[in-house]
Amino acid sequence: MLSLQPFVVAALLGFSLLTGILADNPINPGFPYGSEKVRGVNLGGWLVLEPWITPSLFDNTGNDAIVDEWTFGQYQDYNTAYSALVNHWNTWITEADFAAIAAAGLNHVRLPIGYWAFDVGPGEPYITGQLPYLENAVTWAQTYGLKVIVDLHGAPGSQNGFDNSGHRISYPEWHSNATNIARTDAIIKTIANMYKDQTNVVSAIAPLNEPAGYDGSAVLSAVRQYWYDSYGNIRYPYGTAQESNTLVLLHDAFQPFSYWSGFETPPGWQGVAMDTHIYTIFSDAEEAMTQAQHISTVCGMQSTLSSFDLWAIVGEWTPANTDCATYLNGRGVGARYDGTYSGSPYVGSCTGLTGSASTFSSSYKTFLRQFWEAQVISYEMGAGWIQWTWKAENADEWSYQAGLANGWIPQNPTDLIYPGICG
Ligand SMILES: *[C@@H]1O[C@H](CO)[C@@H](O)[C@H](O)[C@H]1NC(C)=O
Repeated sequence: MLSLQPFVVAALLGFSLLTGILADNPINPGFPYGSEKVRGVNLGGWLVLEPWITPSLFDNTGNDAIVDEWTFGQYQDYNTAYSALVNHWNTWITEADFAAIAAAGLNHVRLPIGYWAFDVGPGEPYITGQLPYLENAVTWAQTYGLKVIVDLHGAPGSQNGFDNSGHRISYPEWHSNATNIARTDAIIKTIANMYKDQTNVVSAIAPLNEPAGYDGSAVLSAVRQYWYDSYGNIRYPYGTAQESNTLVLLHDAFQPFSYWSGFETPPGWQGVAMDTHIYTIFSDAEEAMTQAQHISTVCGMQSTLSSFDLWAIVGEWTPANTDCATYLNGRGVGARYDGTYSGSPYVGSCTGLTGSASTFSSSYKTFLRQFWEAQVISYEMGAGWIQWTWKAENADEWSYQAGLANGWIPQNPTDLIYPGICG
């Protein structure tokens, strides 16, 4: 074992990180990324609330101003909010879900968590208490042979302003504030340290979900630096030159893969994968597409995914082809598809396209199966896929669990009915 003075280690790490010349050692991850396909689900709406996944939690407050986890704490007395959260944490995902996910032939769960599970700053109304549930999740994943990707889904200041970052705000404030970024770095160090010797279960850490790269170069330059820092924090958690076996799962920040070409690539960088999220529903133009166009759009991603210079994991996607799910665009916000979203033209009625599968026609369920298969086939041209999301209270078109129960998702994800759907 090498014994190095801290300043020598720091110099070596700095040299390595800045130049990539000191080649890192190939890692031995907890899952054979690149040779076996990632097949998984997100555990959405559990440790980070999302109004559309659990609308009842929000409707039960009786307060329309409660639109995210921040306002959930802000506009209720602590005991009311805390007991609702504890009940939710105890019931939304349990050990039985991990058993069912494994029984469905999946090998990964991606687990969103917010910074406020680790650090609540002065004036921040977040309620903390999620960490024991993260620990439970890791224990259950180990029991059922699943790999966990710990995904930091909300950062101080919010990295995108989405309600699913914890705080729905008009312009993100994470990237422009060095304190926010330093706090986020510290949390990634904490997570990396927690799981550095358990990489057979926690195989990967995603240091930040969906930073708002579309807002321009100020965000992107902050993200690039943060990815460099995250590499050091995740791949060198021991405070020495010793490397971990933890995979670093970056997000593309909504940029095309061409933007990231050559970024943190081997041999200078080891154990880095790129996460991209593919949805075909968040614009008027996409809402107007036919079912066949939704399918051909995802089929058209194959060469991009297969040719990228890092393992490409589609870490979020859905068989839904509309934005009809209640509160999907935010609590109190309508859907583009039926024209109830401000400025969007009417495409069609949402009736029978969201809610309970008992209202879905057989032709719609057939489409969901075809769209699901087209995506699985296409995303397995990359390193694999993680569907958003395992369950939702009232949006079965998004729910892996509902898809299994109602036949548009096969019990074994390799049992395809339409293997030629992409032509
Ligand atoms: C930066 O963020 C921190 C919280 O992380 C906050 O306390 C501080 O006021 C922010 N600074 C500015 C200039 O907004």
